[in-house]
Amino acid sequence: MNASTNPVIKDTVLHTRDVEQVIVGHPTSDGAGVKLTRVLGQSLHRRLDPFLMLDAFGSDSAGDYIAGFPDHPHRGFETVTYLLAGKMRHHDSAGHEGLLQSGGVQWMTAGRGVIHSEMPEQEQGVLEGFQLWLNLPARDKMTAPWYRDIQTGEIPEFITAEGVKVRVIAGASQGMEALVQRPVTAPLFLDLHLPAGSRFEQKIPPGHNAFAYVYRGEVSLGGQTVTEQRLAILSNSASADGIRLESADGGRVLLIAGNPLKEPIVQQGPFVMNTHEEIALAISDFRSGRFAAAT
Ligand code: FE2
Repeated sequence: MNASTNPVIKDTVLHTRDVEQVIVGHPTSDGAGVKLTRVLGQSLHRRLDPFLMLDAFGSDSAGDYIAGFPDHPHRGFETVTYLLAGKMRHHDSAGHEGLLQSGGVQWMTAGRGVIHSEMPEQEQGVLEGFQLWLNLPARDKMTAPWYRDIQTGEIPEFITAEGVKVRVIAGASQGMEALVQRPVTAPLFLDLHLPAGSRFEQKIPPGHNAFAYVYRGEVSLGGQTVTEQRLAILSNSASADGIRLESADGGRVLLIAGNPLKEPIVQQGPFVMNTHEEIALAISDFRSGRFAAAT
């Protein structure tokens, strides 16, 4: 599905959320030395529950990404990789393999455990994208691993009358549903391309935690302009029914929201569980080779 017509339903936001705080990511590296910017890390776990991490990566220099992310484990959450440009090859211990390409999404539920690799499949050119970590409810942390590649042409999208391009990666917008839905965390993940002088409104339930990451240009959220490479935490106000976005000069933004789990969060590296005992078990299971048999 790749709809280009306007949806019938149009959200109208009566009271917009505000920007509560603007976050600047910090440069770091992960995997075998991939340079990236961590814009959401452990200090925001509680505030942005159920989201655990957002990394942004982008470079036209192969040396910044070519080493990739060789075999490593995960347990207890989901990873959502959205690639704007380039190619990444995925292999995991549950037997999944896929080639993520420009504009596509890879959704992986680590559940009780996978070992996977995420390797750039290009030796030059631009590699650019994001990886979001979405927590799993306690009852689902030991679920079977799951994986889906969604190629760019399969992502539901539409263009509004004002020319705003809306790509619906999770949840729903203006009546158009994404291919991935999650019943407990109910994540919303939109990629919005706003041309100069355009506006867009998106309903968000008041209790859901929400943030926006501006990755091109500038976007005004609830009346406050947020510039490129900034994450804006959107306030939770009982009277706000969504977010109003505008862009004077044009911008692109990821709009992400979800229902908080309000459960204990214990993270050690690639394992995110509810207790220290569960983390110790994850480490012991990984060391004794039980992740490789996670199928
Ligand atoms: Fe990974």
